[in-house]
Amino acid sequence: MSSEVTKEYTNGEITVVWKPGTCIHSKKCWDGLSSVFNPTKKPWVNIEGASSEAIMKQIDACPSGALSYYKNGEEKAELAVSSLTKIEVIPNGPIRVHGDVEITHSNGTTETRERITALCRCGLSAKKPYCDGTHKREGWQES
Ligand code: SF4
Ligand code: FES
Repeated sequence: MSSEVTKEYTNGEITVVWKPGTCIHSKKCWDGLSSVFNPTKKPWVNIEGASSEAIMKQIDACPSGALSYYKNGEEKAELAVSSLTKIEVIPNGPIRVHGDVEITHSNGTTETRERITALCRCGLSAKKPYCDGTHKREGWQES
């Protein structure tokens, strides 16, 4: 299993799950819903800053899977994860894998990633095989 740091924020209705090590700093969440996601504040997630519906919609747009949520009272396992694994090639960006996966690293260790995993396609990431957002900072363009 992954030993990744995880933080949770709840408004009693839904719980937002945040995995800082997975964030690729796309800024989508704070550009889209700054009343909830504001990295200049502590804690950076203000779960009371918008309706549960607005928060869930914004989290669905997180490209890396660093943000996820579950409805309180429902098992996390019941999250809508399709049994069909989908792979999405992002223009000038990473390969996004939708669905839970087990990754075997080059040193033989394994790690479980849930929901969405962004894999580096530009070759510039310092966290390979994962995308760390460097493609954007470097303005990488696919040929
Ligand atoms: S990757 Fe997700 S959590 Fe990180 S900044 Fe982008 S939208 Fe926010
Ligand atoms: S694709 Fe994002 S760092 Fe390589």
